[in-house]
Amino acid sequence: MAERPTYYVTTPIYYVNDSPHLGHAYTTIACDALARFMRLDGYDVRFLTGTDEHGQKVKKSATAAGKSPQAFTDEVSERFRALGPLLNLSNDDFIRTTEPRHTSGVQALWRTLVERGEIYLGTYAGWYAVRDEAFYTESELSPGPNGSRLAPSGAPVEWVEEPSYFFRLSAWGERLLRHYEEHPDFVAPDSRRNEVIAFVKGGLQDLSVSRTSFSWGIPVPGDPRHVMYVWLDALTNYMTAVGYPATDSELYARYWPADLHMVGKDILRFHTVYWPAFLMAAGLEPPRRVFAHGWWTMEGQKMSKSLGNVIDPHAMVARYGLDPVRFFVLREVPFGADGDFSHRAVVGRLNGDLANDFGNLVQRVLTMIGKNCGARMPEPGALADADKVLLGAAYGLLERQRAAYRVQAFHTALAELWDVVGRSNRYVDEQAPWALRKTDPARMAMVLWVLAETIRHLAILAQPVIPGAAGDVLRQLGVADDRRRFADLGPKGALVAGTPLPAPAAVFPRFVAEETA
Ligand code: MSP
Repeated sequence: MAERPTYYVTTPIYYVNDSPHLGHAYTTIACDALARFMRLDGYDVRFLTGTDEHGQKVKKSATAAGKSPQAFTDEVSERFRALGPLLNLSNDDFIRTTEPRHTSGVQALWRTLVERGEIYLGTYAGWYAVRDEAFYTESELSPGPNGSRLAPSGAPVEWVEEPSYFFRLSAWGERLLRHYEEHPDFVAPDSRRNEVIAFVKGGLQDLSVSRTSFSWGIPVPGDPRHVMYVWLDALTNYMTAVGYPATDSELYARYWPADLHMVGKDILRFHTVYWPAFLMAAGLEPPRRVFAHGWWTMEGQKMSKSLGNVIDPHAMVARYGLDPVRFFVLREVPFGADGDFSHRAVVGRLNGDLANDFGNLVQRVLTMIGKNCGARMPEPGALADADKVLLGAAYGLLERQRAAYRVQAFHTALAELWDVVGRSNRYVDEQAPWALRKTDPARMAMVLWVLAETIRHLAILAQPVIPGAAGDVLRQLGVADDRRRFADLGPKGALVAGTPLPAPAAVFPRFVAEETA
C-alpha cells in the first residue's frame, strides 16, 4: 500500500501566565479544523499544541501568585490541556517546555549553533518588553505615560544591560529574503508577507539569545549562569515534539519540516524571521508555511483583564454549545483579518446559518422521510434536470473545499457549503415534495433522496468545523461511522435505499433575543 502523505500542523504554545481565553481557543480551533480536514482527506496528520512555560513573564506571574514557577506552570498548563475535551480538539500531542524531552532538545540545538559559529558571547544593552518577551530598538518605541517608553504592541519596556550570548541574525538577512522569494507561500496572508520582507530589508541586528538576570529558563550548555531566551526555547518545541535532536527518528523523519505553523499576527516576526534563521543556521529545514491570523476584540474593545471583558471559552461553550462556537469563530471573520466578537453577531449567525438554514433543511427532509417513506432511505429513480444541478453542486464541493483549506480560508470553505445549503432549501420549495405525496410518490421519493444525498455531502464536509453536529446529522441519515471520509463522497458512497433511519431530532438550538443581553 502506498504511504499516505503527511501533514504536520502546530498551534503556538501558550504562555502559562494566565488562563486561556477566546483568542487562544481561536488559534487552536482553526488548527483542529485543518487537522480534521486533512485526516478526512486521507493524510497522515500530526497536530501539536502545548504550553510555553519559561521566561520572565511566567516567572513574574508565578511570583505574583505566591507559587514556585514549577508549581504555577503545572497548574496553568493543565487549564490549557483542559481545552482539549472542552473544544473537542483532536491534537496528537501536547508539549510543555518544562519537559525533559524539550529542554534537552533545545540544548542540542544550542550546541549545534555554537559548533557552527552562529552564537557568540557579548553584552546586551537595550530595551526589553516582558509582556512580549521581545527586544526592541530605540527607533521602534513611542513615548508612554510618565516619561516611560512603549513597544509597538503597547507593552511597557525596560532597560536591560547584562552579559548575553548573541545569535548572528545579521548574517542571515539575504538568505531569508531569498527564502521568501523562492517560497512565495511561506508567509501568509500576503499582507503579512510584505510586512516581513520590509522588516528584513530594513536590516537585521544580532539577536540576544540568553539572559542572566533571572534563572527560570533552560540553562545554556557549559555556562549555566545564562538561561536561554524564551523564544529560542519556545520555537524549538515544534521540533522537539517530533523527536529532535534524533533527526533519524521515525517521527522526525515523517513530520519535519512542519507543513504549517498557525500563529496570531503579533508573533509573526518570531516565526518568519528568527525561527527560519535559527534553523538554516543549524543546517535544518525551515517549516513550509506560517499563517498569521487576526485578533478578536470584544464588543469593539481590546480584550483585557483590566477591562474585565476577556471571554472565557468555558462560558462561551456553556452558553452557546461547542459546535456553534467553533462555527461562529471560523465563519464570521475572513481568516487573517481582525474580528469583533459580540453576542448579537453570535446569535445572528447561529440562528441564521445553523438553526434556520442548515438545521431546518435537515429537519424538514428527515421528517418527511420519516413520515412518508416508512423511516427508510427512499428509492432513487431517474434524475431530473433540477436533481442533476443540485447533486452536481454537492459533488463539486470537495475540490472547492480543498482549495479553500489549502490557503486556510475557513470562512470561504463554510460560505461554499452554505451556498449549497441555500440551493437545497430553494430546491425543497420548488419541488414541494409534500405535494407529491399523493400525486407522484415515486417523484417524491426521488426528491427526498436527492436532498438526503446532498445533506450527506454537506455533513461530511462540515465535520472539520462542527464535528459533533455533523456526526449527528450523518447518524440520522444512517451513514455508518466508517463511511464518513472524503473518499466516501460522490456517487460511489451514495445513500442506500431501504436503510432504516432513526427518529429525527433537531441538531442546532435556536437562541432567543433575551439571551443576548
Ligand atoms: N508563547 C507565545 C507563543 C510561542 S510559539 C513558539 C505566545 N503565547 S500567547 O499565549 O501570548 O499567545 C498565543 C496565541 O494566542 C497567539 O497566536 C496570539 O495571537 C493568540 N491570541 C491572543 N489573544 C488574541 C486575541 N484577542 N485574538 C486572537 N488571537 C489572540 O505568544
